[in-house]
Amino acid sequence: MRKPFIAGNWKMNTNSLTSVGLADHLASGSIELEGHAVTLAVFPPFVYLRAVGKALNGSNIAIGAQDVYFEPDGAFTGEIGVSMLKDIGCNYCLCGHSERRHVIGETDELINKKVAAAISGGILPILCVGELLKEREASQTNEVVTRHVKEGLAGLSAEKLAAVTIAYEPVWAIGTGLTATPQQAQEVHDFIRNLLARMYDKNLADEIRILYGGSVKPANAADLMSQRDVDGLLVGGASLKADDFLAIIRTAL
Ligand code: PGA
Repeated sequence: MRKPFIAGNWKMNTNSLTSVGLADHLASGSIELEGHAVTLAVFPPFVYLRAVGKALNGSNIAIGAQDVYFEPDGAFTGEIGVSMLKDIGCNYCLCGHSERRHVIGETDELINKKVAAAISGGILPILCVGELLKEREASQTNEVVTRHVKEGLAGLSAEKLAAVTIAYEPVWAIGTGLTATPQQAQEVHDFIRNLLARMYDKNLADEIRILYGGSVKPANAADLMSQRDVDGLLVGGASLKADDFLAIIRTAL
């Protein structure tokens, strides 16, 4: 059985006061969640990670980074390495979020290095994959997702794959209010799981969690979570409102 995983990606939002306020609200709201088998994590901006981690200390909500660099240390101005994330208590990091692919220009090759470095350094990566609207309209969804998954995981042993979570986030659904229907999500999740089974083996593929992301709200979370291969949700906008994020978490219990 795959344990559900609800993650909140705060993107470039909040400040030193509101990030801790949101974390405090989540920490008190999460008391009712104790004892439930669910993985929870939030991904605040780098500069607030430590304060948010402190506010969430003692709760069952972990912290993760929105990105990471693959080199261990050195002259890489502006970058943050895996050991720095470990040092401040991070458990997870996003790799290849669509905004990093399409706004910042990250390639599959770079994303692959980040995934591999994260695992080697003890941080669990969430590899984000997903097609643009024009790619969906041209029936290229499977092709794009195959490239993101194969190249993102290139060279990873089965043992290392076990540390990975995949997030399917169709770019046309991110921040647009357009959500993939539960059937559309299930179709792609099933496709990804079969792809993993071909790349590795079926038992391992059955253990890997595949999250859906893209305009997840309290109103659509339960339907998405009801799908067989939707193992969790990566929530952007709605994770900035504690009550909405807690309502989304409840759909996973
Ligand atoms: P959204 O973002 O929920 O605001 O659409 C999801 C994401 O980009 O992870």
